[in-house]
Amino acid sequence: MTLESMNEEVRICTACGLCHTRTNTVFGVGNPHADIMFVGEAPGKNEDETGIPFVGAAGHLLNDYLTAVGLSRDEIYIANIIKCRPPNNRDPKPEEEDCCIHFLHKQIELIDPKLIVCLGRIAAKRLIDPNFQVTKQHGELFTYHGRKIMATFHPAALLRNPANKVPTFTDFEKIYSIAKEQNYVF
Ligand code: URA
Repeated sequence: MTLESMNEEVRICTACGLCHTRTNTVFGVGNPHADIMFVGEAPGKNEDETGIPFVGAAGHLLNDYLTAVGLSRDEIYIANIIKCRPPNNRDPKPEEEDCCIHFLHKQIELIDPKLIVCLGRIAAKRLIDPNFQVTKQHGELFTYHGRKIMATFHPAALLRNPANKVPTFTDFEKIYSIAKEQNYVF
């Protein structure tokens, strides 16, 4: 199994009802050997139209944070918990996540990142702790199958609630300092 062959599998996946409403599947982008992997929730409208994660307004804000701390979008990897857009951007249903999560698990195994950054509560609850509270626990380091993992606010949530932009910047500074200290490629 390679990322390319898995992408093909995702492209024709009909495991859940989202296959009926999607335009494109959104597999993931970036360095296939990235040391830092960002995991969002699910594709939105722009991502569904392009097949690329984080290209809409939330994506622009994510790019701003990456640029601000000197992380290059080409050197990291970006994926989502689920690969198809939920209609009207509703939260993914637990059964949709259950159908799809094996793709992300395999992506993590193949990319082999040293640090995973969950963007928002859906990813943090799925990968760190079902009771994860982003407001209280963002920026804290946890372990995920021997890898470092942390969560920060979802950029779409920041667009709705800009008050959390400052703590998010602090989280990105922490990501940068871990990357620098550990000689990650970024
Ligand atoms: N929000 C996400 O969680 N993922 C995307 O790819 C776009 C918006």
